[in-house]
Amino acid sequence: MKTFDDIGVRRPKLARSYLALINAQPGRPLAMFAPRRVGKTHFLDHDLAPAARQAKWLPVYADLWLQKSAPLEAINHALEEALDDVTVPRSKAGRWAKTTVKKVGALGASVDFGDAPDRRPLPAVPELRLDALVVRLAAASDKPILLMLDEIQALGDVADGEKIIAALRAVLHKRRDILKSVFTGSSQEAMVRMLSTAGSPMYQFAQLLDFPVLGDEYLQQLADHFAEVHPGKLLHMEDLRRVFARIGFKPGLMRDLVKSLSAEGLTDVDAGVKRFLLDDRQVAGWSALLQPLDLFERAVLLTVAHGLPPMGRETLDALAKVQGSRPTIAKVRAAIERLRRAGLLAKAGGAPTAVDDPLFAEYLQGQSLGLLK
Ligand SMILES: Nc1ncnc2c1ncn2[C@@H]1O[C@H](COP(=O)(O)OP(=O)(O)OP(=O)(O)O)[C@@H](O)[C@H]1O
Ligand SMILES: [Mg+2]
Repeated sequence: MKTFDDIGVRRPKLARSYLALINAQPGRPLAMFAPRRVGKTHFLDHDLAPAARQAKWLPVYADLWLQKSAPLEAINHALEEALDDVTVPRSKAGRWAKTTVKKVGALGASVDFGDAPDRRPLPAVPELRLDALVVRLAAASDKPILLMLDEIQALGDVADGEKIIAALRAVLHKRRDILKSVFTGSSQEAMVRMLSTAGSPMYQFAQLLDFPVLGDEYLQQLADHFAEVHPGKLLHMEDLRRVFARIGFKPGLMRDLVKSLSAEGLTDVDAGVKRFLLDDRQVAGWSALLQPLDLFERAVLLTVAHGLPPMGRETLDALAKVQGSRPTIAKVRAAIERLRRAGLLAKAGGAPTAVDDPLFAEYLQGQSLGLLK
């Protein structure tokens, strides 16, 4: 039986258009940005990789966030795994069968396989290893490689991030006939900052794209399934649209919301969000986000959530009450920077700094500014 969890929107056309863009600019990666939880990874996995396979490219995925301390090693590891998949057949017998048979016993009873085929060892220096792996993998698979680097902004957090970017850039350029690449990130700002310090401006290196959020086709499926489960009850599209925007176009969250409505047979989507905001698990999650922050950082976060200009007089006055004396602008700025690095605040394009997750922002708005008074 179909459940809400089975609902998914496929975007093959978008995927193909991305491949065409990549193809048209050899050596230049696409960098797609979108806020957290809107479906970037899902798209790579369910749409872009299948489209790449269809185009006879070999997609290779690496999550740089998962191995934050050693991102280049994470990329190399992903390439090595892919190389194994291409060169080493899954079963042991298969692997042996690829080596030459040296000696077969008289009755065929003892079979002595030769050594596994020799290869020059891969270079140990990660930068060179990357280059060698790309060449070997493309040759072994006889396909161009599509290197999908998820959470690329993680490179901004490592000491040698710039060096890694430079290495990536060099390999992407040198191997442009066999290597194509897509980056995703949730902080365009962090990435632009990082890449601009690593030489020339980001836009010269990668093509920046705003990854489009899901729309009606997703909401319609949720509404249709709801109607199936609850004959005679309807979720209205305009309610779904409004709420989807309100929670920041996060499909997983939207699905959870509709599921919770469905569990109780309710159709008021806005009221559903309100209940969601008060849900114990949700509140526990937000408290956990606040927990590592000091009092001053929390105060700054609250002022931003309440829409106060962070360096404004009113804000500084309110913050003065928190710490007993008027903070310097530099101190506020440093706190904002830390909140950004923690992923709690974001700045989209020319827009002012804001709380990244709109639902979290609503939760914070419900918190009294009394803390600051
Ligand atoms: N096309 C889609 N159809 C249905 N559900 C989707 C779709 N895309 C994403 N989702 C759901 O949204 C949730 C978040 O998706 P995903 O992890 O891909 O987002 P993300 O942008 O990579 O997030 P993060 O910034 O945390 O890495 C997942 O639970 C996924 O099931
Ligand atoms: Mg992701």
